Amino acid sequence: MTVLDQLEQIEREAPGQVQAAASLEEIENIRVAYIGKKGRLTSILRGLKDLSDEEKRQVGGRANAFKARLETLLAERKTSLAEAVSGKAAIDYTLPGRPFRRGHRHLITLVMGEINGIFQRMGFEIAAGPDIEKDYYNFGALNFPPDHPARDEQDTFYVEGDLLLRTHTSNVQIREFEKRTPPFKIIAPGRVFRNEAVSTRSYCVFHQVEGFYVDRRVTFGNLRGVLEAFSDDFFGRGTRLRFRPSFFPFTEPSAEVDVACFLCGGKGCSLCKHEGWLEILGCGMIDPEVFKAVGYDPEEVTGYAFGMGIDRIAMMKYRVNDIRLLYENDLRFIRQFR
Ligand code: PHE
Repeated sequence: MTVLDQLEQIEREAPGQVQAAASLEEIENIRVAYIGKKGRLTSILRGLKDLSDEEKRQVGGRANAFKARLETLLAERKTSLAEAVSGKAAIDYTLPGRPFRRGHRHLITLVMGEINGIFQRMGFEIAAGPDIEKDYYNFGALNFPPDHPARDEQDTFYVEGDLLLRTHTSNVQIREFEKRTPPFKIIAPGRVFRNEAVSTRSYCVFHQVEGFYVDRRVTFGNLRGVLEAFSDDFFGRGTRLRFRPSFFPFTEPSAEVDVACFLCGGKGCSLCKHEGWLEILGCGMIDPEVFKAVGYDPEEVTGYAFGMGIDRIAMMKYRVNDIRLLYENDLRFIRQFR
């Protein structure tokens, strides 16, 4: 057999063998057999120098070209075997990464965090209470008489028995009073539910943050000071608050607090319904009847409490004109606030 014949035989046989190889070991054996130190193709290449010029021309270039082709075939077969073993296509590490959109907190959660931070810096602890609550914690212990209109099914969602969806975060007052001994300073943010007609300004779910301080000789002045410090921090230094006398069964005296309208600074605009003021919270001095219900001596302890509407202040600060946007989960809206 001439050298050329030998080369042609190799060219015929080797590719099929590579293709048929079923393991990395077989591939290696084929490599050694052809292009290892004593491989068949290696011998041909080594023997080139002893050939006639005519043969050198015929065989030399062709043998080198086939060696390169065989190396490629071996590498390709190795890759495809590895893919078959791992079950996935080999990764192209040079491709750019796939963009991965990370989620983020909802506007309400962000604002809650901001509020928590402000009160924590003033020494308040954070507590939480259940959304599904007993009548006793939502109403009874808070001095609501049995026939109080807030208990009406028109306003309150009842679950079953004496369970209802809490209508305010004031239930946390009673739950914490039962657990603790004064003095303490607590805020409790959370979700509340009311059976209201849905509109741009009211929704069946919203959020409040309850705050209360119980100690000896707590005054309305302390309450006012804390709320003004909050408003300076949250709305901006010097933002005016207005206290209006009001009524709640669980505080006496009671007040509702307005903040000077953010948009018009108090001149009157569509946001504040041309009032110049926006109501943000209810508050007052905790009623002695509430202390009695939890076994505190009203001659010894005093306290203030407030309940602030989170959605309202979030809407004011971030200029959201429809409360429903906060609950409909339209990502085009949600992604504007991070
Ligand atoms: N719970 C009252 C409300 O939902 C607000 C409030 C809280 C008032 C604490 C006084 C004290 O309207």
